[in-house]
Amino acid sequence: MRLLHGFAGLFAKDMAMDLGTANTLIYVKGEGIVLNEPSVVALSRDTGKVIAVGSEAKEYLGRTPQKIVAIRPMKDGVIADFEVTSVMIKYFLRKIKSRSFLFRPRLIVAVPTGVTQVEKRAVIEAAEQAGARQVHLVEEPMAAAIGADLPIDKPVGSMVVDIGGGTTEVAVISLSAVAYSESVRVAGDEANEAIIRHVQNHHQIAIGENEAERIKLEIGSACPLPQPMTVGVAGKEILTGIPRSFQVDDQEIRRALTEPVNVIIESIKRTFEKTPPELASDITHNGVWLAGGGALLRGLDTLLTDILKLPVHVEADALTTVTRGAGRVMESIDAYRQVFLN
Ligand SMILES: Nc1ncnc2c1ncn2[C@@H]1O[C@H](COP(=O)(O)OP(=O)(O)OP(=O)(O)O)[C@@H](O)[C@H]1O
Ligand SMILES: [Mg+2]
Repeated sequence: MRLLHGFAGLFAKDMAMDLGTANTLIYVKGEGIVLNEPSVVALSRDTGKVIAVGSEAKEYLGRTPQKIVAIRPMKDGVIADFEVTSVMIKYFLRKIKSRSFLFRPRLIVAVPTGVTQVEKRAVIEAAEQAGARQVHLVEEPMAAAIGADLPIDKPVGSMVVDIGGGTTEVAVISLSAVAYSESVRVAGDEANEAIIRHVQNHHQIAIGENEAERIKLEIGSACPLPQPMTVGVAGKEILTGIPRSFQVDDQEIRRALTEPVNVIIESIKRTFEKTPPELASDITHNGVWLAGGGALLRGLDTLLTDILKLPVHVEADALTTVTRGAGRVMESIDAYRQVFLN
């Protein structure tokens, strides 16, 4: 058995995975990020058979005929539907298998801070069911800090704000541990919801999740833009059900996004209140690091700089920071053992 494991280890390509509410990314040791797909699965309503996974399944959201259902099995950063999550991981692993492994890989999975024992077990079991041999968990803000190249093992405080699809995590890291963290269930998804509500209330038009996200990506902002922007929107009139298209501008979308943006700002402020003065003063010098897709909202860094009066940095490739960090841990697993949760 031992021999077999050792042998398997020779051939298995170890991996790191960011199992996110919006996107799942997989990093293969020695290769880098080989998969980046939406965390969505489309199933047959009758038989439960998988119809599509990832990008293709995301297209189905809000567009499925009666007999197909598109599911996002992760909610608020944790597994909401265990079976579907296992199926999704299995599908993704199989997708990269041909180029990646012959035997069961070791896997590092990034999870939100403050996950419960039950939630941790669920991630480990889902990964094992999908074929992983050994599963290590690392907290997402820790992975983000490593991905952003922050001095995590020094006695110096670093603040990371990871704004994902389901959750925003604010964490202060020092000496390879999370000294203080806070997680709010307001991030990119909630921003989309705010746009849906705004269009509903101000235009009496219903739009889908993907349409709301498109508006956010095209003209969404947290601060006035140098040039005004507008975008065409397609939806249906709530009263009559008739399809309608019209224009919205950056100003009204910015107003719609005020509420979720404020929740994120408040969470950062609360974290500062609870951070010991020495660590807080390190952050005053080094600034706050933003990661996750939500960090890419136009002008969010400028707004935060204004409010906090601190340097605010947005990770260059914010959507991959956590995965790059988890990948780095996988590359030098022995050097990073102290960051594992389990
Ligand atoms: N340019 C952009 N501007 C604003 N939001 C963006 C941009 N690009 C991506 N996003 C948003 O980022 C979110 C996805 O980010 P990310 O992939 O980091 O989340 P996740 O890791 O899957 O979620 P979580 O960490 O909450 O589990 C989506 O809500 C998406 O709309
Ligand atoms: Mg994330």
